[in-house]
Amino acid sequence: AEALRVALAGLGTVGGGVIRLLDANAELITRRAGRRIEVVAVSARDRTKDRGIDLSRFDWVDDPVALARHADADVVVELVGGSDGPALALARAALGAGKSFVTANKAMIAHHGLELAQAAEASQRALKFEAAVAGGVPVIKGLREGAAANEIGRVYGILNGTCNFILSKMEAEGRDFAEILAEAQALGYAEADPTFDIDGIDAAHKLSILASIAFGTQPAFGDLKASGIRHILAADIAEAATLGYRVRLLGIADAGAHGLFQRVHAHLVPLGHPLAHVTGSTNAVVAEGNFVGRLLFQGPGAGDGPTASAVVADLIDIARGEYGPPYAMPAAALAAQPAADSGER
Ligand code: HSE
Repeated sequence: AEALRVALAGLGTVGGGVIRLLDANAELITRRAGRRIEVVAVSARDRTKDRGIDLSRFDWVDDPVALARHADADVVVELVGGSDGPALALARAALGAGKSFVTANKAMIAHHGLELAQAAEASQRALKFEAAVAGGVPVIKGLREGAAANEIGRVYGILNGTCNFILSKMEAEGRDFAEILAEAQALGYAEADPTFDIDGIDAAHKLSILASIAFGTQPAFGDLKASGIRHILAADIAEAATLGYRVRLLGIADAGAHGLFQRVHAHLVPLGHPLAHVTGSTNAVVAEGNFVGRLLFQGPGAGDGPTASAVVADLIDIARGEYGPPYAMPAAALAAQPAADSGER
């Protein structure tokens, strides 16, 4: 069979990881996908930067929108980031040109997922974003496929590795937030704008994606209320411990009697709950299905290896011809989201 030809936009941590993973595991990926997956063209901000990868074998395209329309590409991978701007322009260009599209961009999918899903379905191409939520943890596949036959009542979890790293370190070392933030940033988990992490916005992006998949509702990031962890002191965590709790930043979506409730804020988690034992930058998502029971997805939510694994898994799906609807059902069948409660954001 002919190779699946990939145009890759963005050569940061994850983009480099995708190229390294495709190289290192080329043989098994070909066997599993049924054909080779080959990067043919790349684009990034800085052409001269040394990334430790031989880029001379790829066609270098300066303009990401031109890359998205590259004549030799079947699928475009976007690892640029940002909810709008170049990432959105190239998503629209790729889908408009009849290419499939894979992204790790949770902000863009949270804001524009419905539009992009409609575009993908109209041209019968794939739109896939497993890497956008919880990095290497296959939570979107888990909900879309594993729980496809279930009514899901709640989905909730630890969706930001930076915050969980900070909170677990504050607890273990009794130190305050600001000192540890710098360490988390140095580890490379933090967003380009770290306020997205610590104010709960990044977790909110991911929660809104999970909620629309779990509940079959149109994604509606604007209805989601989020706060973060910058107000939490080491002393708060110590007090919570004396009561038998740990502090965790949770995203919670509940399709209960009150309509769809979606929120991100710091919670007291009892020691008997598995999420109390998730430490460091690990992510964990719980979903409750009416036949399957309680599912727990847990693992590395950031970093090049895990996130690249999710991106390449999506490419393998596409190589096998899986062009199903991006959400758990066709975009036209997604319910308009029931009005959320009207509390302050
Ligand atoms: N900034 C994110 C986190 C990276 O800390 O979890 C993965 O989306």
